[in-house]
Amino acid sequence: MSQGSSQDRRIEILFDAEKIAARTQILAGEIKTAGFADLLVVPILKGSFVFGADLLRALHAAGVTLEVDFIFLSSYRDTTSSSGQVNILRDIETRVRGRDVLLVDDILESGRTLAFAKDLIAARGAERVAACVLLDKPGGRAVDIDADFRGFECPDVFVIGYGMDLANRYRELPYVGRLV
Ligand code: IMP
Ligand code: MG
Repeated sequence: MSQGSSQDRRIEILFDAEKIAARTQILAGEIKTAGFADLLVVPILKGSFVFGADLLRALHAAGVTLEVDFIFLSSYRDTTSSSGQVNILRDIETRVRGRDVLLVDDILESGRTLAFAKDLIAARGAERVAACVLLDKPGGRAVDIDADFRGFECPDVFVIGYGMDLANRYRELPYVGRLV
């Protein structure tokens, strides 16, 4: 088992930086192949800010032209379980009517966050709404939804790093791991 450490906690590394980077390149290629037009990429804050930043640059390298805006949604508070309700803390400023929109999230678990975001963007008249998530925990689903593009299937454990947090800590780690 490869190990890291941060803030005096030992961490079991599940997906290291190299593996994430390689997978992100492949995802960018898949997204290019999907042939979006007039693409607006919308990372869902806060958790996806690191993955979003890397994915955007991978999309650029793959030759995809895009615009970026951010939405800030909250369902997780300072706990490791979902509150069930999704709130908009900061909305996108861009009009989506008639456009292709790619939502980007760190983890798809219950599906509530992504379902909320997809419904919101679709209700505003987007032409196509797709989602790309780095990690998928299919065991945790409460809503019937899947990502169009996904990096890795993730075991049913609470993970941190690469943007993902426990009470806003550990986001800076270059890998995804779990506290042991
Ligand atoms: P969902 O609404 O249950 O699908 O949850 C998705 C959101 O919950 C993700 O965008 C994450 O921000 C957060 N989340 C879910 N699982 C984890 C985890 O293991 N670590 C950190 N955040 C998580
Ligand atoms: Mg999130």
